[in-house]
Amino acid sequence: MLTATLTSPEATGTFACLLAAKLGPPALVTLRGELGTGKTTLVRDVLRALGVERVVTSPSFTLAQSYEGRAGLRLHHLDLYRLGAGADVALFAWEDYLDGLSVTFVEWPEAGAAELPPADVDVLLTHRTPESRGLELRAAPGLERALAREMTAAGIEQ
Ligand SMILES: Nc1ncnc2c1ncn2[C@@H]1O[C@H](COP(=O)(O)OP(=O)(O)OP(=O)(O)O)[C@@H](O)[C@H]1O
Ligand SMILES: [Mg+2]
Repeated sequence: MLTATLTSPEATGTFACLLAAKLGPPALVTLRGELGTGKTTLVRDVLRALGVERVVTSPSFTLAQSYEGRAGLRLHHLDLYRLGAGADVALFAWEDYLDGLSVTFVEWPEAGAAELPPADVDVLLTHRTPESRGLELRAAPGLERALAREMTAAGIEQ
């Protein structure tokens, strides 16, 4: 596990760029953490870093939003916060978003736990101060090591 402190939204943006550079299809990135810890902020920053020019400002209105990034990269942003238990979860078109050809970001993965495969990257964000967030990232050891090195070089405290 990699742990760090993101001391400002700008630091979150810097981390997002480093993470974005490591992602390619197929990949599932889950984002956990209480309300307002910055999950959506992080996903939007990563999407921009992957070449999406028009990131939807309020993805919470819809369960899923799809984008095309650089070089035709297929990207999906799911926010399962409002997904009910039971029927909704079973009826949701998971296969449209986990098609092996896309990079898929899932906020509130707990709501779809039974349907989701294991994440390639799991991010947990926690509240520290109004501007500062704790980060815990779980990924393959090589990826964690490479990210840790680059975050240190970028001045992100670990
Ligand atoms: N270091 C930081 N990183 C990210 N966001 C931060 C940071 N410091 C403050 N913020 C602020 O925290 C808020 C995070 O909101 P955001 O919608 O991204 O959270 P969320 O985890 O997606 O919430 P929800 O669970 O409601 O979807 C934003 O207003 C953002 O500007
Ligand atoms: Mg959110």
